[in-house]
Amino acid sequence: MAPALSAEAVLNRTDDIVTEQAGLEGPLLPILHAVQAAFGYVPQETLPLIADRLNISRAEVHGVVSFYHDFREAPAGKHVVKLCRAEACQAQGADALADHAKARLGVDFHGTAKDVTLEPVFCLGLCACGPAALVDGRVVGRLDAARLDEILAGFGA
Ligand code: FES
Repeated sequence: MAPALSAEAVLNRTDDIVTEQAGLEGPLLPILHAVQAAFGYVPQETLPLIADRLNISRAEVHGVVSFYHDFREAPAGKHVVKLCRAEACQAQGADALADHAKARLGVDFHGTAKDVTLEPVFCLGLCACGPAALVDGRVVGRLDAARLDEILAGFGA
């Protein structure tokens, strides 16, 4: 695992990102995506800097980070399992699968246990093969509890 960056290094990198993206129309989302790409999540300490540089309120930045499921407010585990929560997958058992995953890991969505982060995602374009999931960036269709257990066991979870 890469060593943690100092708070100063995080802010310096964020400042560079804001400078690179500030000229875009509607720069907040691209900036937040770039910050997450740089650090793996959007560190709380970057929010005041982003707000000040864009001349918007901190509450506005925080609202966007918490509204979009793509943004993490804490570092993810080594593995990320995203379960589709959209309608077609729900009709194919996604709710029960989500309950199973939460119970097995002992966390809710956005939680991390045993180096696995559980996240919701809303439609992976695999609606006919639900429940669908994204496991470390790989799309998995027709996921059931047994297959999910195998995947998690493979991660040591
Ligand atoms: S609804 Fe789950 S992949 Fe489309």
